[in-house]
Amino acid sequence: MCGIIGILGDRPVAPLLLEGLKRLEYRGYDSAGIATLDSGGIVRRRAEGKLAGLEKLLAADCPPGRTGIGHTRWATHGAPSENNAHPHATANVAVAHNGIIENFQELRAEVTARNPNAVFTSETDTEVIVHLVDLLLADGLSPRQALARVLPRMEGAFAFVMIFRGAEDLMIGARRGSPLALGYGDGEMFFGSDALALAPLTRRICYLQEGDWVVARRDGAEIFDAAGLPVQRETVQTALSGALIGKGNYRHFMEKEIHEQPTVLGDTLSTMLNPARQTVTLPDMPIDLSRIGKITICACGTACYAGLVAKYWIEGLAGVPVEVDVASEFRYRESPLPADGLGLFISQSGETMDTLEALRRCRQAGQAILSVVNAPESSIWRESDAVLHTHAGPEIGVASTKAFTTQLMALACLAMGLARARGVLPPAREAALAAALAEIPGRVAEVLAADAHIAGLAALLKEARNVLYLGRGPAWPIALEGALKLKEISYIHAEGHAAGEMKHGPIALVDKDTPIIAIAPDGPLFEKTLSNVREAAARGGQVIFLSSKEGLKRMRAQAEPVAAIEMPAVDPFVAPILYAVPVQMLAYHTACLKGTDVDQPRNLAKSVTVE
Ligand code: BG6
Repeated sequence: MCGIIGILGDRPVAPLLLEGLKRLEYRGYDSAGIATLDSGGIVRRRAEGKLAGLEKLLAADCPPGRTGIGHTRWATHGAPSENNAHPHATANVAVAHNGIIENFQELRAEVTARNPNAVFTSETDTEVIVHLVDLLLADGLSPRQALARVLPRMEGAFAFVMIFRGAEDLMIGARRGSPLALGYGDGEMFFGSDALALAPLTRRICYLQEGDWVVARRDGAEIFDAAGLPVQRETVQTALSGALIGKGNYRHFMEKEIHEQPTVLGDTLSTMLNPARQTVTLPDMPIDLSRIGKITICACGTACYAGLVAKYWIEGLAGVPVEVDVASEFRYRESPLPADGLGLFISQSGETMDTLEALRRCRQAGQAILSVVNAPESSIWRESDAVLHTHAGPEIGVASTKAFTTQLMALACLAMGLARARGVLPPAREAALAAALAEIPGRVAEVLAADAHIAGLAALLKEARNVLYLGRGPAWPIALEGALKLKEISYIHAEGHAAGEMKHGPIALVDKDTPIIAIAPDGPLFEKTLSNVREAAARGGQVIFLSSKEGLKRMRAQAEPVAAIEMPAVDPFVAPILYAVPVQMLAYHTACLKGTDVDQPRNLAKSVTVE
């Protein structure tokens, strides 16, 4: 999963490519490169590691040219290295690619059979594309004819941009599965993985559709569909800002984003709740919520845990059966989908391929499609019947924080909206829940004020080999999320468990060196949670107890935890939103103590657009 950009410019292109790649680094940061056309020849500059490495290289040796392509990588085939970095090239063609060419070995064998002198210099699947095109150019085909031949041969998901030696006013782009946008400038043309990368260059964007490919020149573009027929595609004016987001006075984007939560939770709630009437006001949607018979929630990573919390809320309040699936499994599972079913997709980026493909599967199965998305104009946003927008703003830190809590805020409102549409949410209960939701931004600010205390607890986790997170009911997904946060950014092994499930196996992991993070909000499951925590403590587990003043008193009446985080007392319904914050902070401070790369942890990326 990578970020790609292509520019047919009327000014030196290398600095523009670099600026564009800075806006695409969330898609991958293990190596990067650019290729430009200089008086006909292809010139490449590539570097292993973060974009800063390429930036340094270009500062010392910037290739000329007004035509060029760029790439930032998240390795799929071949280790992160300069050799495997894109763009890949022969003397005649260069390509920057996002996706996976599944039949690349077969195509490689074909190239080698036809041209035994063909030299493959990388371990990537991508490189075969340039060799295939090169063969056809050698047969006398034009670049356009060559692409028309090559595209049907490629299996898998891809988006790529391509330049050709001696063709300074030509760039070809194609997409199947992975997203690609085309940008119209004044005497310039652009390609990008998303509109965000192009925002500083143009606001006139065309989102290419499945199977589209484009022959672009500075004065315009011809768009073809998968059958090779010319097509017209809509051009929209993007509202996305090109401004690069700064960290402000924070050390990391993640820290900033954790501290932005009171504001963005308020912003998200203000679009879905009428504080005066204390009622939910979901955006109008072409979906009759009162007639939904079953809900299938699909998402990945942190977003999937938001879906798990929503299952408790929706089933509890609205009585609609909910199934939650990790999208990569749902995609290939033959689960029956009823005619009156709703597919509910949750995604910060709106570009996660597994979730997008799960959405397309539900679409094919006649489900209504509702999504909770943070990134406007993203693929999942555009392919849904309706969207609940989480107003978290751009989230740069790879480990999701504010997007998660705003997803929960939106899903809580959805659960209430569903219950009211089905006539099972009495006005007094709706008003009480609305009031509890409206309190959340302030309560989160109270937890953030305990930052120094929580930072101090990180020392208890820093040296741990295993950390266990426990919760019951809707607090269980928060335990899963807490463990994921710690894994993502501190690289400490951690597991989240339903507290009641511990005694059926995971409790074997507990010893005097195992920190146990107990998530115990007030509510009907508090006592049960307490007894499960006691079972772990009895085996030496080092309990860090998260609960209200009253909850802590009841815990301490039975056993003194190693440490505690006193949480504001809130309605049990909204507790998952609030209890997500201290587990984010614990993970953040532990990672800082360990000195890991908090914003761009190893092996991860902000959005994965390959399967
Ligand atoms: C991973 C991110 O790549 O994708 C996670 O590192 C995220 O933070 C997951 O939760 C799902 O992403 P999205 O954009 O679909 O919510």
